[in-house]
Amino acid sequence: MATHKLFILPGDGIGPEVMGEVEKIVGWFGKQGVASFEIERGLVGGAAYDAHGEAISNSDMALAQAADAVMFGSVGGPKWADVPYSKRPEAGLLRLRKALGLFANLRPAICFPALAAASSLKPDVIEGLDILIVRELTGGVYFGEPKEIVTLEDGQQRAVDTQVYTTSEIERITRVAFELAKTRRNKVSSAEKHNVMKSGVLWKQVVTRIHKAEFASMELEHVLADNCAMQLVRWPKQYDVIVCDNLFGDILSDVAAMLTGSLGMLPSASLGAEDPATGKRKALYEPVHGSAPDIAGTGAANPIATISSFSMALRYSFQAIEAADMLDKAVTNVLASGLRTADIKSDNTHVIGTTAMGAAILKELEHLA
Ligand code: NAI
Ligand code: MG
Repeated sequence: MATHKLFILPGDGIGPEVMGEVEKIVGWFGKQGVASFEIERGLVGGAAYDAHGEAISNSDMALAQAADAVMFGSVGGPKWADVPYSKRPEAGLLRLRKALGLFANLRPAICFPALAAASSLKPDVIEGLDILIVRELTGGVYFGEPKEIVTLEDGQQRAVDTQVYTTSEIERITRVAFELAKTRRNKVSSAEKHNVMKSGVLWKQVVTRIHKAEFASMELEHVLADNCAMQLVRWPKQYDVIVCDNLFGDILSDVAAMLTGSLGMLPSASLGAEDPATGKRKALYEPVHGSAPDIAGTGAANPIATISSFSMALRYSFQAIEAADMLDKAVTNVLASGLRTADIKSDNTHVIGTTAMGAAILKELEHLA
């Protein structure tokens, strides 16, 4: 049986509350003999700052580097508002992303049948929806140089951000998108704006070349990013995997996320480069939501986003596909039974807290096993 090194960073706010439920599920899969997990725990964000004055320690960074997967809760909040920028809770996450080279951000948008009625879109538009946005995370206009505000001779100011992509950056994110589509419905939609952007021209060329050379049997389509936003709201089920740059991905993934539901439901994964020797990738899994200071400590937080993030770890880092499917099914069934945390409640549902939701999912896993 494979042994997987899992490094757990609960963080602060609701992070430790939701991660507590994940730990029970990890323990259950371990006991079932699905895999053996070697677990380390560390501090990040406000929890780390309060303990030792940094957003993450060097020893915890080393554990993250050594892990097969990092499970990250959430960080940040008004308590640390006056802490210097480099030690702020958010700095811990940025340091992890940078050090692990996490260039591929995966954001699924899945419609749970029991929640379809809560969407702002018509049920037939989103029922059965299962798409995946693959966003390039370490390049593009957020990082390109020059990046500045300068004062001109006439006294005006001029702001510059620079969109930069190299061939190899586009190649590696393209490969991730096709590899993922292979495990799904074999279709990749590449969103850019080659009509007005040079980086879009290069993006389209490189994606086309990689498709032809390495994934020719799979379907590729090119879509202009603004049209993609429109199509996501009009008929999202036309998509399987959407691959795009950092800026378009930021926007398109938020659009896709809100097709189906609440922040408390949304998982994510961030992947690094494949190690040629082992075939393994660095990976960090986290809910999309933040530390929710407004409800931290009340026991009301929805743990599903973090539990589904662990399901992504099972799928993408541990190749435990059956276990991931089973965990997703358990979540689906619990929602279908009418149990809800407060953030996703509706008529004729029963509201429960964080630990009761975790326990219900665990019980359903027992039932499915
Ligand atoms: P947030 O995601 O923490 O909360 C937004 C709203 O959604 C709040 O009303 C909150 O109660 C609710 N919410 C979020 N997650 C929930 C859950 N699991 N169950 C039930 N309700 C949930 O975003 P906000 O308020 O903008 O930021 C709060 C702090 O979190 C800030 O310090 C921010 O910087 C940080 N943050 C951290 C992130 C991370 O750790 N990756 C990501 C986003 C924000
Ligand atoms: Mg965003």
